[in-house]
Parts: sequence; structure tokens; C-alpha cells
Amino acid sequence: MKKSITFTDNRNGKSVEFPILEPSLGADVVDIRTLYKEMGIFTYDPGFSATASCSSDITFIDGGKGELLYRGYPIEELAENSNYLDVCYLILNGELPQKNSYDKMNDYIKSEYLLHEGLKNLFNAFQDNAHPMATLTSTVAALSSFHFEHLDIDNEAEYREMAYKIVAKIPTIAAYSYRHSHGLPLIYPDMDRYFTKNFLYMMRAKPNGKANIDDVEMRALDTIFSLHADHEQNASTSTVRAVASTGAHPYAAISAGIGALWGRAHGGANESVISQLEMIGDVKNVEKFIKKAKDPNDSFRLMGFGHRVYKNFDPRAKVLKKLRDELKGKVEIDDKISKIADRVEEIALSDDYFIKRNLYPNIDFYSGTILTALQIPKDMFTPIFVIGRTIGWIAQWIELKKDREAKIARPRQLYTGKKRRHIK
Ligand code: CMC
Repeated sequence: MKKSITFTDNRNGKSVEFPILEPSLGADVVDIRTLYKEMGIFTYDPGFSATASCSSDITFIDGGKGELLYRGYPIEELAENSNYLDVCYLILNGELPQKNSYDKMNDYIKSEYLLHEGLKNLFNAFQDNAHPMATLTSTVAALSSFHFEHLDIDNEAEYREMAYKIVAKIPTIAAYSYRHSHGLPLIYPDMDRYFTKNFLYMMRAKPNGKANIDDVEMRALDTIFSLHADHEQNASTSTVRAVASTGAHPYAAISAGIGALWGRAHGGANESVISQLEMIGDVKNVEKFIKKAKDPNDSFRLMGFGHRVYKNFDPRAKVLKKLRDELKGKVEIDDKISKIADRVEEIALSDDYFIKRNLYPNIDFYSGTILTALQIPKDMFTPIFVIGRTIGWIAQWIELKKDREAKIARPRQLYTGKKRRHIK
């Protein structure tokens, strides 16, 4: 029997039945597409806390349990057994790759690391000290002027190429953004190196091509990329889908997603966490800052805590905390910052304010400590989130394009302005 729900309008006694859509996992969803037609009302849901804006096969989160699945696989298992390119293949194609399909994808991605020489000129136009996120979002938008070719959504090979092309080029743009903002010469990608190793190479290499990259560091960063690869309909993904719904170029949609990710409430939190831990400065100051975070009259928030969907530990944070502890002794983890972070976590997790609101550490709480140990400067933390998330954005772009029920994103509003009036 098909499930449904009946809404009764207390104003006129009219009852209307609405179908319930059953997901493969998670809460049932009421289909209210005909609500306005049937009952003449809209729903009010600022920030879409209770609204499913689309259907998706890619990622599932159980916020109560603190569970994250990519195409059904738990994130912990993927972090343990797969590399970032396996995860990219999985997110895009729905299955983990066999050796020959992996090799084919890897070869193609390597061949696409390079940027068009013309695009490189753009970097000279940016301020010397521009934030790499500003440079990144602009340059990705500009990329759409160089690659007009892969836009036929009915041609599977073409849109896969379009997807891998942007995955391959984003690290190069991110590394160039960093090097430009620090006055360093741009380093061409090394097409013989694996994705993550090549990124570290482009960040670190001297003009003579010398760069020390340890495998432990490479694997840590690779895990960070995998953990960021997709995350349901978060703010940046919803932005990418909104732009895609208008028919804009996919790289323009990704550029808009990068803009949305930049904010402190979203991907920008990773940079803010480290700035905040540095500001706390000492374990003995932690309680003072926790008090500030709890004060309703103070806008101060504990960065790296809380999540719209997770009402339990963010499973990505758990993987990163374990990784941070495993890395101790192998890379230079800042002990002082780690101790402050541990104390923040300890106090917050036993404090009524945080317990009542289900505020747990999220992915950004730990990523910065590891990235700092990998000698990555703070202003590159959010670009690193971008590199990991690009595959998710592009897979969601493709999913939307293939979805026959997708429509232009166009929410309604609760108008609270002036009623009709006249100049005379
Ligand atoms: N510190 C102190 N109080 C908080 C925090 C925090 N980090 N987060 C939420 N609260 C309080 C908030 O003040 C509110 O209290 P009250 O009910 O008394 O008004 C309550 O918890 C609910 O907060 P909300 O802002 O309504 O929750 P939301 O779902 O709209 O926001 C969030 C989620 C992530 C934006 C928010 O928790 C936050 O600003 N956290 C800090 C920034 C951060 O770490 N962001 C990274 C998110 S994970 C990476 C990603 O996927 O983007």
C-alpha cells in the first residue's frame, strides 16, 4: 500500500492527501509539490532544515547515528581501504573501480593537470596578497571560457571527461593561487605523479623542481580529500545545483559552489578553527572561550563545532582525530594546538549547553591540525576542501542534469513588506 499523509486546513476544514516517498535509507519524505495548487499555501522553512530539494543516489548521512555513506560504503571503510581517486570513481560511477578502469581514469586525470597557458595570465591580474579562495573561484569561472566542449549530457563519455577534467585542474589552480598570493613562481604540474603527490609537489617545489614529499604526508592529505568528497545537499552543493538548474556552464556552477564554501559557517570553518585555537593560545584560557561561545549576547561561536545534520559525532572528525594521533612522531604535529583542541573538546562535550544542542566536533575541528603538520598554510585549508569536494559537486551536477523531475531552483517566500501603495 502506498503511504500518504493528510493535511487538514483548520481555516476551512478542507483535507488533502499527499503521497509519502520512501527513501532507500532515512526519513520518509512528503511530496508537497501540489500543496499550493490544492490548498493555496506555501511551506516556510528558512535554511531548508526540513526540505528535500532533490532525490540523490550519491551520499547518505544518518545525523543521529553519525554515519556517512558514499554510494552505500561507510566513510571509515573508504578511508582505510581506498585512495582519493578510487573515491572519485565511486562517486561518479556508483561502483569502486576495477584495475583497468582505475588506470584509464588515472591516466586521463594526469593528462589534464595542465592549464591552458592563457589561463595562467589571469593570475597576474590578482592582488599579490589575494586570498587563494578569491583567486580560485574567479579562475574556475574563467575556466568555462577555455572549455566549452563537454556539455552534451546524453553523451556519457563526454560528461565523464568534463568531470575528470575539472577534478584534474582544480589542484593546479589551487596551487597557483597559493603561489601567486605568496609571490612564488608558478610550478607546472608533474604529470608522472599521483594526484595528491602532484598537488603537494606544486605547493612545495622549488623552481629547480626539487620537493620533499613523504608518503605518510601524501596519504594523510589523500584521506583528507576522500573525507571531503561529497556530503549530501550542503550549502555549496545546493548552490551548484541551483546554478546548474538554470542551464549554466558546469564550471560556472562549480565556481559558485566555491564561493558558497568559502564562508566560515561552511568550508571556511577549517581556517577559522586554527585561527581560533591560536587565539585561545593556552589550555588555561579554554574555559573563558567556552563561556563566550555559550553567551547568547556574544556572537562568538566555537568553530569546528555543530552541524545542521549531525546530532552526534561527525564520523569524518573521528577518522581525522585517529589520523592525527597516528601521525604523531611521523610529522610535526603542533603539540600546543593539539592540547588546546583536546581541552576544548573535553570541556564542550561535558557541558550542558553543547549537550542539549547536540554540538559535537565536525570535520573542520581536526583537519587544520593535520594540514598545519603537512606545512600547508592556513589560507589553503579551504582550497583543500575545494579540491576534495569538486568530484561531489560535479557528480551532483550530472545527477541533476539527468533527473527528469529536476526544475529550476526557485523557492517561494513569506512576504513581510509594505502592502500595495501609490506614489500619489
Ligand atoms: N558554538 C556555539 N553555539 C553554537 C554553535 C557553535 N559552534 N553552533 C550552533 N550553536 C548554537 C546556536 O547558537 C543555537 O543556539 P540556540 O538554540 O540557543 O539559539 C543552536 O546551537 C543551533 O544552532 P543553529 O545555528 O541554529 O544551527 P544550524 O544547523 O543552523 O548551523 C552550523 C549549523 C554548522 C552553521 C553551526 O553549528 C556553526 O556555525 N558552527 C560553527 C562553524 C562550523 O564549524 N562550520 C563547519 C560545519 S562542518 C563542515 C561543512 O560541511 O561545512
